[in-house]
Amino acid sequence: MCGIIGYIGEIHAGDGGAASDRAADAPGSVGEIVHRGLKNLEYRGYDSAGVALAGPTSGLTVAKRSGEVDALSVPDVPDATLGVGHTRWSTHGPPTDANAHPHTDCAGDVAVVHNGIVENYEALKAELSDHEFTSDTDTEVIPHLIEEALAADDGDDDLLAAVHRVEDRLEGSYAICAVREGDDRIVVARRGSPIVLGRGEDASFVASDVTAFLEHTRDVTYLEDGDVAALSPDGVEIFADGEPVERTIETVTWEADAAEKGGYEHYMRKEIHEQPSALRQTLAGRLDVDGGDVDLDVSFPPGFLADLEEIRIVACGTSYYAGRYAAQLFEELAGVRATVEIASEYEFGAGRTPDRTLVVAVTQSGETADTLGAIRRANAAGARTFAVTNTLGSTVTREVDGTAFIRAGPEIGVAATKTFASQVATLAMLAVAVGRDRGALSAADARSVLKDLQGLPGAVQQVLDEENQVREAAREYQDSEAFFFVGRALGVPVALEGALKLKEISYDHAEGFAAGELKHGPLALVTPDTPVLAVLTEGARADETMNNVTEAQTRGAPALGCVSAGEEYDTLDVSFDVPDVGIVEPLAANVYLQLFAYHVANEKGRAIDKPRNLAKSVTVE
Ligand code: F6R
Repeated sequence: MCGIIGYIGEIHAGDGGAASDRAADAPGSVGEIVHRGLKNLEYRGYDSAGVALAGPTSGLTVAKRSGEVDALSVPDVPDATLGVGHTRWSTHGPPTDANAHPHTDCAGDVAVVHNGIVENYEALKAELSDHEFTSDTDTEVIPHLIEEALAADDGDDDLLAAVHRVEDRLEGSYAICAVREGDDRIVVARRGSPIVLGRGEDASFVASDVTAFLEHTRDVTYLEDGDVAALSPDGVEIFADGEPVERTIETVTWEADAAEKGGYEHYMRKEIHEQPSALRQTLAGRLDVDGGDVDLDVSFPPGFLADLEEIRIVACGTSYYAGRYAAQLFEELAGVRATVEIASEYEFGAGRTPDRTLVVAVTQSGETADTLGAIRRANAAGARTFAVTNTLGSTVTREVDGTAFIRAGPEIGVAATKTFASQVATLAMLAVAVGRDRGALSAADARSVLKDLQGLPGAVQQVLDEENQVREAAREYQDSEAFFFVGRALGVPVALEGALKLKEISYDHAEGFAAGELKHGPLALVTPDTPVLAVLTEGARADETMNNVTEAQTRGAPALGCVSAGEEYDTLDVSFDVPDVGIVEPLAANVYLQLFAYHVANEKGRAIDKPRNLAKSVTVE
């Protein structure tokens, strides 16, 4: 997830922003307008920032560097009438100056900013072998493809026509803005990544979200997938399949703060709702469903996986529960012993064989001190180490032998939500890769797991569509004395995660248990004032779990269950339908538990995005 912004209009340095009434309160040059837009988009990533500015006599000026937007010094281009900018959240290539956007063609005449992933960039780059590439990014193929299209014998030497041609070559997701020296337009294309156009009086805007230009105009047009648009000061032309189309102009009524959160009151709820797109990004270009294989772009020394004796996952909090889910998958799919340890408790231990052990750190931030400590102890013992993280360039990636990125996009809310789903999905792909390599998983069984994964984003969307039902349940039970979450098998980590989510944002007492353990002690706590929330899906031994739920109900506890679609447990007080997605069904159930936690906390007016006493990244041991 990156942020992009573009502006084209009549505002010049010193004009005081008099291009339109709407811009009157927003003085500054094109560079300043783009820079302010980038500041508003920084929540989408802040690994690097860059701008390209152009004016009638000054040509195209590009400036970019690693680091936050404030570290970028925007060049002074006095006659600039257009500019595009980018703030990066790295997916391909570390956060360096060279990898910062905009990227340019060989001559430096075309500049492009991009949000998304070009999945076929390696093939395209091979095709463009006579072009000079200066970065490790997937994006850089785009300006070079535009350069080719502009020079093609059967082409038009026109930026808009060139972008139309290039669009057909790109696989994956993108929102791009392209500018060209001597051309007074910004050309925009969209497939799968968000982009919105802003319509001022003598100016046009484009951005990843409206916050970037809300101070200038509230009149916006959302592009549809496959649309290409040409922006000029006079307005916007939009094309679909090469033909001009009209798209509605809507007026934004949100205030800037809400708009940054996409209209949601809290980042956490926004991030819960982002899970289908985050998961799509996690899986993009990695599943070979027909072939029953995955491409995670990770490699191990020859023979290492075949001889593997044990996978030891080290992690904290939510990442630890993702690890608990994954350990079951490694055992089942990869036929290898898998253990999970709380990172702060981890020691390599005697009696284990370092050269036949893979220690996997699961960490959203890649900076958690406890997890880094565990990895350092594993490295010192001589084990092979691996990280599953959301954060390119984070400390953990520098200390392990290999990394898989979960690509969930920045998570601002302190409570982890979308990254949990993306971590488990990434670890599930790793389990398939290891299982296939070891010959423990047949192609047919792998295909079935990959189909489940492929269905997960849609299943999560179906759960999100039931949010009203969860809100009602949260209202009904919010004043309970305590909440117990139960499940079996893959339902256990989800029950533990459900309880963690509720306690950390609502401050209510909540505990997760393996359902079978209730009767060994916790049942003493059960009363009519302690609802039990159960994971009753595939992969979670639903019937046995329901027996334990019934034991709690007999003691008066209300029971709420996340139940596989098509199954029914008549005695439940509330039943949430979970779509059929096989081995990842408990992950879809988890989204109900996230929503439940969110709505209980919201009813109580808690500081949901920044719960008391907590921090997003815990960098102390
Ligand atoms: C809970 C939560 C924390 C983190 C934990 C590990 O919602 O976010 O429990 O999961 O602090 O953080 P990372 O994954 O960054 O290592």
